[in-house]
Amino acid sequence: MLEVVNLSKVYKKVKAVDQVNFYIEPGEIVGLLGPNGAGKSTTIAMISTLIPPTEGDVLLRNENVIKEPTKLRKILGVVPQEIALYGDLTARENLEFFGSVHKMSKKLLKERIEIVLKQIGLENEHKKLVKHYSGGMKRRLNIGVALLHEPQYLIMDEPTVGIDPQSRNHILETVKQLNQESNTAIIYTSHYMEEVEYLCNRIYIMDKGRIIASGAKEEIKSILSSEKMVVVKFNRHSNVFIQELMDLPLLSNINVKESEINFTVAKDTNLLPTLMTLCEKHKIVLNSFQVEEPTLEDVFLHLTGRALRN
Ligand SMILES: Nc1ncnc2c1ncn2[C@@H]1O[C@H](COP(=O)(O)OP(=O)(O)OP(=O)(O)O)[C@@H](O)[C@H]1O
Ligand SMILES: [Mg+2]
Repeated sequence: MLEVVNLSKVYKKVKAVDQVNFYIEPGEIVGLLGPNGAGKSTTIAMISTLIPPTEGDVLLRNENVIKEPTKLRKILGVVPQEIALYGDLTARENLEFFGSVHKMSKKLLKERIEIVLKQIGLENEHKKLVKHYSGGMKRRLNIGVALLHEPQYLIMDEPTVGIDPQSRNHILETVKQLNQESNTAIIYTSHYMEEVEYLCNRIYIMDKGRIIASGAKEEIKSILSSEKMVVVKFNRHSNVFIQELMDLPLLSNINVKESEINFTVAKDTNLLPTLMTLCEKHKIVLNSFQVEEPTLEDVFLHLTGRALRN
């Protein structure tokens, strides 16, 4: 297990990271979600022992690794937010260069480069100079560099910012595959809540240097869901029908569109039987009944009063 305990970083005037605690178990994908300036990259820089914390510890299997980072570096791969590649080298040459720091044999490095080029989908593009790559290809190579030494833990800092949808999907699938096939534990940092929602089981939401919510996806969403939102469609409706619907004690926030009506009800209400009876009475057909989950975006808005992205 990799763990951070009361981690803080204070710059002159800014508390960039403020008493952050979290952990990741082998084989998990954990999301770190937060808006610009939340402190995500600073937290990552401290875990990867690039900057020293003002306070707090980073523990690998209960052993403090801040002063003795060698063990951690062997098993940790970091994909930095800023792309760090040599434009005048090809993909293969970049991988050879960055791979040489891992002190593996030439033969092993060569094998790993072949595997990694396939993983990141650049096996047919490896002869091009990186400066001629698209943004998405550079992002993929940036990930490849972090994978060379087969890390057990991988931290990815906003790996899909500013790229085309195809590269984005490729990256999301690579993350899933790495986790499923190599059991790599991944800390996935993003301010795209739909990516975090797709990839991660457990999530930490960070804002202004602090973790403001954490837990399994469902737990986090349940912060909000004392109510659920329901969307129903009818073949038709009438004013009397709507009036009777509005008079039901369980419903609130009714919003009528053409064939669609949405409203909220208390979470454990079983509304369907009542609704069916009302439909029968008015000879109206209920075409669909859908309960909508709150999104992580809704939770963030609820907790901070702001949207995740501005
Ligand atoms: N070297 C530094 N000196 C002073 N302040 C810093 C430094 N690095 C980061 N900060 C400040 O710390 C806060 C957190 O920054 P950080 O880069 O960790 O946020 P982030 O969550 O990664 O944001 P983004 O989504 O924009 O990448 C910001 O207010 C930032 O201005
Ligand atoms: Mg950042």
